[in-house]
Amino acid sequence: SSGKILIKQGTVVNAHHKVVADVYIEDGIIVSVRPNIAVGDDVKVIDATGKYVMPGGIDPHTHLEMDFMGTVTIDDFYTGQAAALAGGTTMHIDFVIPINGNLSAGFASYVDKAKKSVMDYGFHMAITKWDEAVSKEMELMVKENGINSFKFFMAYKGALMINDELLLHGLEKCKSLGALAMVHAENGDGVAEGQKRIFDLGITGPEGHALSRPPVLEGEATARAIRLASFINAPLYVVHVMSIDAMEEIAKARKSGQRVIGEPVVSGLTLDDSGLWDSDFTTAAKYVMSPPIRKTGHDKALQDALATGILQLVGTDHCAFNSTQKAFGYGDFRKIPNGVNGIEERMHLIWETMVESGKISVTDYVRITSTECAKIFNIYPRKGAILEGSDADIIVLNPNASFRISAISHHSRSDTNVYEGKTGKGKVEVTISGGRVVWEEGNLKITLGSGKYIKMPPFSYLFDGIDKADATYLASLHSPVHRTAAAAAY
Ligand code: URP
Ligand code: ZN
Ligand code: ZN
Ligand code: ZN
Repeated sequence: SSGKILIKQGTVVNAHHKVVADVYIEDGIIVSVRPNIAVGDDVKVIDATGKYVMPGGIDPHTHLEMDFMGTVTIDDFYTGQAAALAGGTTMHIDFVIPINGNLSAGFASYVDKAKKSVMDYGFHMAITKWDEAVSKEMELMVKENGINSFKFFMAYKGALMINDELLLHGLEKCKSLGALAMVHAENGDGVAEGQKRIFDLGITGPEGHALSRPPVLEGEATARAIRLASFINAPLYVVHVMSIDAMEEIAKARKSGQRVIGEPVVSGLTLDDSGLWDSDFTTAAKYVMSPPIRKTGHDKALQDALATGILQLVGTDHCAFNSTQKAFGYGDFRKIPNGVNGIEERMHLIWETMVESGKISVTDYVRITSTECAKIFNIYPRKGAILEGSDADIIVLNPNASFRISAISHHSRSDTNVYEGKTGKGKVEVTISGGRVVWEEGNLKITLGSGKYIKMPPFSYLFDGIDKADATYLASLHSPVHRTAAAAAY
């Protein structure tokens, strides 16, 4: 039947091991991984000799059909996922944005948007205000709706931004539920000040965006979030790490044993702003995202941090707009919708930048593009591995073929691509999603509505031993030495 596939003679790569073997799939599940599997002729055979057979990519950070900055991102769950599959990504985790702070309404709207899905997906949820209802609804989201992560925006003042009090409440609530707190780390008050200062100087074009929110504001917010998470003793996930400043805070915290995860994104790892802001408005505006694309040097430092384990996994922050949408900010950079593409390009650009360049091994590639994400969001080994019993989300990558990126040929609905013209070696030739071949010989074969919602359970490995650490801390507060110190303080 069409549900039976044999991938022959490839190098099967998992996060910590690779071996030449066959992979046999039936009804969406990996049934067998071993050499020389014999099958009948009702089985589709894919020859992977000389190629890598790897878990499909999992993109931890996307914004499909998101209402944002007065418009809606141009890729919906159909076009965004089609692009993902063509680029070797077989699952993504999108951010549910509450409606007027209401979590259930936000969730319902995303359930609706995701009806167009053609591949598996999960949800994070943003928290934009705080009251009893929100706190209760977070419980509902975790216990009933399969959400195990909440994002707090420390920037976008007057819109999504939260303050430290809310972040503290959120961290505490997340911890009690076994959910992971995520932060967009930029000092939002600083950004607002910076924007006013730059605009008043008469700098109104896209270059003003980068000038108004320098790395120091990202470093400050990252440090603050890390310290507040330490104070609560809760794990923390920093999304889109774009600067050395932020990365160094994460390095320091991890070295001290704190549970902090750092997610660089493809744009921050592969782009810098040399010459960028000298271009015409349309060209420069397409690169406007937050935190901004940095000066050269940050990209290389982030690559090294990823290679050495200071940062753990790669996202895209795919948040694509058309040039007509970007043009809303003509004459005022503050109104340019923030966001770039990447869901289709991630697997190729990370292969080129990290593996082809010799910075990391093929097994590490699988870890940072798939396995680590599955572990952090608690869906491993169903996802993120080529093991018997895992979902059949698999790619075949030919290390000797090459890719070329262009808005002409990409599958995103956007008319531009921030990676336009980039080429490299290593091409995803086959994508298998849920046991179906969906990308082969440059053709997409997808079915509207065939994607499944993946519920993510709470209490990932990041929570192991947290109770014990709390108990030790509380016991220390009650120890005679502290009571004496407290008494002496009065
Ligand atoms: O510019 C960006 N990053 N747009 C998407 C929203 C966000 O902050 O992740
Ligand atoms: Zn963000
Ligand atoms: Zn984002
Ligand atoms: Zn003490």
